[in-house]
Amino acid sequence: MDKVRIIGGTPLKGEIRISGAKNAALKLMCASILSDHALILDNVPRLADIRTTAQLLDSLGIGVKFEAPEGEAGAQRLTLTAGSLNNTVADYDIVRKMRAGILVLGPLLAKYHKARVSLPGGCAIGTRPVDLHLKGLTQLGAEIELESGYIVAAAPQGLVGADVTFPFVSVGATENLMMAATLAKGRTQLFNAAREPEIVDLANCLIAMGAQITGAGTDRIVIEGVDALHAAQHTVMADRIETGTYAMAIAATRGDATLVGALPETLGAAIEAMQAAGVIIDAVPNGMRIRCGALVGTDVMTEPYPGFPTDLQAQMMALMTTAQGASMLTETIFENRFMHVPELSRMGANINLHGRSAMVRGVTRLTGAPVMATDLRASVALVIAGLVAQGETFVNRIYHLDRGYERLDLKLAACGAQIERMAG
Ligand code: EPZ
Repeated sequence: MDKVRIIGGTPLKGEIRISGAKNAALKLMCASILSDHALILDNVPRLADIRTTAQLLDSLGIGVKFEAPEGEAGAQRLTLTAGSLNNTVADYDIVRKMRAGILVLGPLLAKYHKARVSLPGGCAIGTRPVDLHLKGLTQLGAEIELESGYIVAAAPQGLVGADVTFPFVSVGATENLMMAATLAKGRTQLFNAAREPEIVDLANCLIAMGAQITGAGTDRIVIEGVDALHAAQHTVMADRIETGTYAMAIAATRGDATLVGALPETLGAAIEAMQAAGVIIDAVPNGMRIRCGALVGTDVMTEPYPGFPTDLQAQMMALMTTAQGASMLTETIFENRFMHVPELSRMGANINLHGRSAMVRGVTRLTGAPVMATDLRASVALVIAGLVAQGETFVNRIYHLDRGYERLDLKLAACGAQIERMAG
């Protein structure tokens, strides 16, 4: 299994170009099911999860074509042409690799009035049920049964618009329902909807395809169903979590670098937390410049958007390990998202876990060590720690990083990091 070797201690300097957002692109790809015509997506990142979703769509019979524009190392154009599908089964072998596979359920039901989608199951960060997706689709008229590990759903007369109130905020359930409602008869209102920027990006793409949606980005989204969607082109938004990750890496190494293409307006709470911790952040044309003053301990609690994102909690913890004083990081979204704690401790961090909070007391230095993590954001937090630590760090199980960070080693190396990928 490939690993990353890092010799820590070099401040990151230079420029990092931010890629298209994984968590936007995955849903945008699923939206292609809703129309017979081509959906062209630009700025699609080269990531393992994108390839898995492409494989899933291909298995349904969707035409999948990747093209790389000249001169752009990462960004690629993806054309998805659904035509008329005769397969509406999303197989276990693909969905088990990636939970976002559940996002084909709403579009398949809306367009083809039936779907058979493998239940995704739990994952390292928590049990992650899909009950809100199923309840919401049932309210739109779907009949849903669970059979041999599959969700078997049907709406023989098509979906019908309804008022759906989510008992708590779910990004995926909001997206699945929003997509499904575009082709339902009549009006759907989603109350207590998630407000993440990726939902706004998805709504903008659906609107470009002919959907009638208002309120995306607020907690009430209104969708007026239409008969059909048409061809469209959409550019995937910049990845706010990749942006926050590199900002924290630059600050942790006491570097000075610019994140090109970053969208600071999508990172309000994370920017506030970093500034409170002593990170200097300046808006520059087409991006953000990150520098670091004296780092001080800062408390953070994860919350649905616009709160501090759970997907940056591990990286913020890595940043806080060498800050002066104490920080309390509280995770409220997932029940098991502290897998980086024992590994950071092996590198010399002083962290105590108390239920869903972690108390970090800053130390003067971390030391390199062989480490591994069982999810994407925990893995990248260990990379940040490795960049700061004295000596050599090996981060094992690099396939987690490949799921969500495009050319991570090359982007960091271009800013002076001593980092290399190693086979085996
Ligand atoms: C999305 O997951 C992201 N994934 C996650 O990013 C992110 O951490 C999460 O939103 C929260 O921001 C993608 O966009 C592909 P949720 P999602 O539904 O949609 C519970 C990363 O590292 N829940 O908002 O699955 C759930 O267990 C990933 O890139 C139910 O109980 O998250 C969790 O505790 C990891 N029943 C909470 O709600 C449901 O039916 C929020 O989950 C649905 C969710």
